[in-house]
Amino acid sequence: MKKFYDFLVVGSGIAGLSFALKVANKGKVAIVSKETITDSNTKYAQGGIAAVVSNRDTFEEHVKDTLTAGDGLCNEDVVRMVITEAPERIKDLEKWGVDFDKSVNGNYDFGREGGHSKSRILHHKDNTGYEVEEKLSNKVLQHPNIDVYEHFFAIDIITQHHLGQLVKRCVTPIEAYGLYVQNLKTNEIYTFLADKIYIATGGIGNIYETTTNPPIATGDGIAMVYRAKGLINNMEFVQFHPTALYNPKEKPSFLITEALRGAGAILKNQKGEAFMVKYDERKDLAPRDIVARAIDNEMKNLGVEYVYLDATGIDKGVLNNHFPNIVAKCKLLGIDVTKDYISVTPAAHYLCGGIIVDKNGRSSIANLYAGGEVAHTGLHGANRLASNSLLEALVYSHRSAMDAIENLYDHEIPANIPDWDDKGTTLNEEMVLITQSTKELKQIMSYYVGIVRTDIRLKRALDRLEILYKETEQLYRRSKIRREICELRNSINVAYLVIKMAMERKESRGLHYNLDYPDKIQ
Ligand code: FAD
Ligand code: SIN
Repeated sequence: MKKFYDFLVVGSGIAGLSFALKVANKGKVAIVSKETITDSNTKYAQGGIAAVVSNRDTFEEHVKDTLTAGDGLCNEDVVRMVITEAPERIKDLEKWGVDFDKSVNGNYDFGREGGHSKSRILHHKDNTGYEVEEKLSNKVLQHPNIDVYEHFFAIDIITQHHLGQLVKRCVTPIEAYGLYVQNLKTNEIYTFLADKIYIATGGIGNIYETTTNPPIATGDGIAMVYRAKGLINNMEFVQFHPTALYNPKEKPSFLITEALRGAGAILKNQKGEAFMVKYDERKDLAPRDIVARAIDNEMKNLGVEYVYLDATGIDKGVLNNHFPNIVAKCKLLGIDVTKDYISVTPAAHYLCGGIIVDKNGRSSIANLYAGGEVAHTGLHGANRLASNSLLEALVYSHRSAMDAIENLYDHEIPANIPDWDDKGTTLNEEMVLITQSTKELKQIMSYYVGIVRTDIRLKRALDRLEILYKETEQLYRRSKIRREICELRNSINVAYLVIKMAMERKESRGLHYNLDYPDKIQ
């Protein structure tokens, strides 16, 4: 069954929603999202959005902080572009109704996070992402030109390969025409066709056992583009957030925002020592890669599974006003943050690499854009500066929207695109195989491809993954399509890319730390 649109957006986080709002007056838009419209990483963002919108801060300082955190791998042009376009994109958010906290004099109440030399984080309490997701999704739902398909799972990108054409990439560019998408309530598979396609499927946190990401983050967009022979890069740079609440049974891990350290909270080990002083002169506000590695080291030295965050020195009023959700969450677990230490541990949080895009968000596949966490723009380099991610999504959604509008109808969609073909698939119920393989994958990635890596661990990870890959591909070919097997297959694809790119990097840089090559290649 076919559906035709001008613009097709996959994903309804900040990237997908803001792109849709920008193009909707120029054509019909479909947004497909695998859960409800608001289920996304975006909804969980706490700290806020970094932007220079005060005369006590400068673009140059934000640029410098971003480049320093990125450890030599940022694209400086991209960094300058994103940071100087930030104020306009913040205005867009406010126009869509997003409310940032202000102090009594009406100025923005800026938060501070690791790696930032200034307080420049715009926030809404400690649930900025929820505020953004609510306001943008309401706007989208009210727009007459946008159709939202909730519980619709994107399976694969349709290219010339589906027409039986052999494409030599060096001669003919690969072109995208649409996607096969399954309605998860009826199991029907639709052929969505569109002139311009925007992939905004977010991150990959769920390839690890412990993650701050909700279950939707299984790397689907990256895997789809990889299978369609698009270009992917920098997958070895997986960011672990230093301070997820230690509560092993809870999934996803609840985040304790870095802004709490920005307000004065201090990391301590089981002996009560404020240990960050041993690792970096910026102490608790060093960039995330350094803090996460320091915590990992302290935990390994003491043989423990967590360290403490001491927020007892922060003014009670500040805690209640700026961090009400953290205070409430800790209280539920019997922790009074004004008196007790909070147990924290690192958790997989953010992917710096992804689908390679140019400055307008165009991927290497024609008519296919990518934005938000799924994309590799060059902004983050080897380590993302805190709160630069929502900003990147906004700036690139805008740029992609403008480019897509300008180039609308610049090509034809072939008339003979086939519908989904499930001939030869018979299996229906093999859930035990899928759930067990998913568990194994998370273990492989957590034990061998975590914060600290070695060649032998990476090799073992690849060998184990190879077995899972073969078993899963066989199962996939024989099975009726279902979300769980597609997500497992996608997760294996992205795990493979993380491991392979980690093996190729013969140095330690930013988030990629390999004990066999402890130094950076100069
Ligand atoms: P997402 O918001 O993750 O949205 C992805 C969408 O794609 C979802 O709607 C999902 O359902 C859909 N989708 C995925 N696969 C498919 C498929 N196959 N078919 C259909 N739909 C699909 N960044 C900051 O800058 N500041 C912060 O303070 C901050 N705090 C954070 C706190 C937490 C706990 C987490 C997890 C992240 C935080 N980040 C923060 C990172 C930031 O939130 C994300 O990088 C950003 O929200 C990603 O937005 P996105 O639109 O790219 O993807
Ligand atoms: C946080 O609030 O600590 C998360 C910010 C981010 O991931 O950028």
